[in-house]
Parts: sequence; C-alpha cells; structure tokens
Amino acid sequence: MTVNGTDRWERRYRESQTMQRPQAAAVLADHVHLLPASGAAVDLACGRGGNALLLAAHGLQTQAWDYAATALQDLEQLAAAEQLAIDCQCRNIVESPPAADSFDVIVVSHFLDRTIMPALAGALRPAGLLFYQTFSCTAVSDAGPNNPAYRLADNELLQLLPQLQVVHYHEAGRLGDSSHGFRDRVQYIGWRRP
Ligand SMILES: C[S@@+](CC[C@H](N)C(=O)[O-])C[C@H]1O[C@@H](n2cnc3c(N)ncnc32)[C@H](O)[C@@H]1O
Repeated sequence: MTVNGTDRWERRYRESQTMQRPQAAAVLADHVHLLPASGAAVDLACGRGGNALLLAAHGLQTQAWDYAATALQDLEQLAAAEQLAIDCQCRNIVESPPAADSFDVIVVSHFLDRTIMPALAGALRPAGLLFYQTFSCTAVSDAGPNNPAYRLADNELLQLLPQLQVVHYHEAGRLGDSSHGFRDRVQYIGWRRP
C-alpha cells in the first residue's frame, strides 16, 4: 500500500498533537507593515496556520488552505479561541490552485510546488502581494526536507515568478559567518503592479 502525501501529513499532524500557537513565517511577521489595511488573503499549505492567524488579526478577510484536515481542525480551534474569523478549506492546492485575480495577499511558507507558481502570480489582484518563504538547497544546517526537489536552487524563486516586481528578497546561502543571520530558507515578497 502506498502512502500518499495527504496521508503522510495527516499522520504527522495527528502524531504531533499540540495546541502550541503556530507562528507566522518571518517573511510575513517581519513585514507586516507592507500589508494592506483590508482585502482578501490566503495562507496556502497553511498547516496549523501561523500565517493565517497573523493575517486575520491584521484585519484581512482570511482563508487558509491545506489538504490535512487535522491541521485545519487545530487552526479552527485556535482561531475560535482568539475570536478570529478564518475560512479553513481542505483542498489540494496543486490540483485546485487559487483562481485568477482572487486575492490581495497570498502567503506560502515551507511548501514548494513549482507547477503552481504561474497560478500564484495570476491569483493576485492588482497591487497584490505574494509572501513566500521556503527551504534552499544551499544551507548551513540539515533543517527542512531531505528531498532536493522540495528545496529552491540559488535564486530560483526569482526566476519562477517573473511576472511580479520584487519588493524583498533574502538568500544568504553559506556566506560569511554562517552562525549569524537568517539561513537555510529563502524569503521573497513580490508585488503585482496595478
Ligand atoms: C511543512 S508544512 C508547512 C505548514 C505551514 N505553512 C508552515 O510554514 O508551518 C507543509 C504543508 O503543506 C501541506 N500540503 C502539502 N501538499 C499539499 C497540497 N498539494 N495541497 C494542500 N496542502 C498541501 C501539508 O499538509 C502541510 O500542512
């Protein structure tokens, strides 16, 4: 019997039951000042939804999409406890990516599927922002996935999103004193010109 991706993630979430509050990715938490005051936002492959909680607390109409129902149930409980409205949707984001012109803010953290990049850029409304943070091949620790297919090559994200204007990009690789700085992950914020 093969275990598909959904089952694997479901099992992981069931085995790591915790009500510890998930945190937003640094690329979002450190750039909250770039968010619009209103609009529609989505946290894609949200897991327990640290990004979604921040987006909703900021006042955005927030959706959270993931195919792991257990993670979404945890997020629903957290959102209820914090009196935040988050529309949690159990869906496969590769098979059903967001529709064109549907969100003002899209956040993706620690997930990579190259085939949906054009759809992500196209799903932004004019002046919309895409926040992206995920693991890089050039790293200083063994954090993150072992499969190189789930890690970005050097500068790859810039090439995958040619439609957007770069607002912020960080990729430190192994430069300098690798015990300092934000490492192992790439940060990207892109803007759809109005
Ligand atoms: C490493 S976790 C990241 C969770 C969260 N974004 C974070 O940064 O902590 C990856 C998430 O992607 C979800 N996922 C993987 N493939 C997916 C797909 N095709 N459709 C929807 N969710 C998917 C998994 O269920 C899991 O919650």
